[in-house]
Amino acid sequence: MDAEARTYILGIESSCDDTSAAVLCNDKVLANVVAGQDIHKLYGGVVPELASRAHMANIVPVVSEALRQANIDKSQLSAVAFTRGPGLMGALLVGTSFAKSLALALRIPLIEVNHMQAHVMAHFIADPDKQKPPYPFLCLTVSGGHTQIVKVNGYNKMEVLGTTRDDAVGEAFDKAAKTLGLPYPGGPLIDKYAALGNASAFKFPFPRIDGLDYSFSGLKTAILYFVRDSIKVDAQFLDHNLNDLCASIQHTIVSILIDKFLAAGAQTGITHLALAGGVSANSGLRAALHTECEKQGLQAYIPKFEYCTDNAAMIGIAGYYKFLDEDFAPQSITAIARYPI
Ligand code: KG4
Ligand code: ZN
Repeated sequence: MDAEARTYILGIESSCDDTSAAVLCNDKVLANVVAGQDIHKLYGGVVPELASRAHMANIVPVVSEALRQANIDKSQLSAVAFTRGPGLMGALLVGTSFAKSLALALRIPLIEVNHMQAHVMAHFIADPDKQKPPYPFLCLTVSGGHTQIVKVNGYNKMEVLGTTRDDAVGEAFDKAAKTLGLPYPGGPLIDKYAALGNASAFKFPFPRIDGLDYSFSGLKTAILYFVRDSIKVDAQFLDHNLNDLCASIQHTIVSILIDKFLAAGAQTGITHLALAGGVSANSGLRAALHTECEKQGLQAYIPKFEYCTDNAAMIGIAGYYKFLDEDFAPQSITAIARYPI
């Protein structure tokens, strides 16, 4: 690679409760530093004001650490890419203001990135063990705030074919976990205990929603009532059945997700199916997509574990493609809490 073709992008992510900075050389990740925020565990969910304050405390050390790990001086950066939205306004403002100031001081381009597009673009990070999906492909983008079936025609040409009518799937995992007495965020814990349980032990209802949309609020309520009634009969119900409950809940959620995703594949004739977003870290979902695609002669694309939950490497790769198109943002740009894909 000649020096001219070498583009160094600093990616910055601050949309929710992870402060992250990454340095990429073209599509290759040199460093990806993520600082989580344990403070929210005390409250059973993300407290927006506390998230903003933690981002302010973390952003400078996280960026410095990413540059150090990448062995890059900030004077070598070609551009700064940042999450403009969607997300928590106060949290987004920290990353946005930091990125704007740094780009201005270094006199380099500023690139705004849509967080949900970036989740999808994580598939384009260079990885010798993985194939990049060809356009068009379908992406099931599942996180704490979103549940979308996206038709991906290009790095910034994405069309939502189906979405949730109420709770996002990550929210469904976290709320179910709360009902089971598990701390926030409960999604990864359900995954952990599910591995030890029987997925057919308990039956939960499937939503009846036409088309490619999802709904998870009915399931959340069904779990709540079932647990409440069971505890009335046996006060130790949760302790005795935690693994089976987690396995059954996870199996239900994964089946709901996969059914519609496969239906979207059949409807569009698109045979390349990808996962993205925090919930794509779920081992049941990863295994189910892999198995179903193998059965049906489809191609599954499962993201690397560290690029599933929020990270700045995905902001960097989305920024890299915009950099190649010289799609730069003005200094007048502001964060936006709602930002359609
Ligand atoms: O993409 P993400 O990090 O943040 C948002 O943009 O929302 O997703 C976070 C969500 C949380 O709801 C978390 O519980 C869920 O992803 N999650 C999981 C797993 N890992 C993260 N849900 C189920 N199983 C997992 N292994
Ligand atoms: Zn996310």
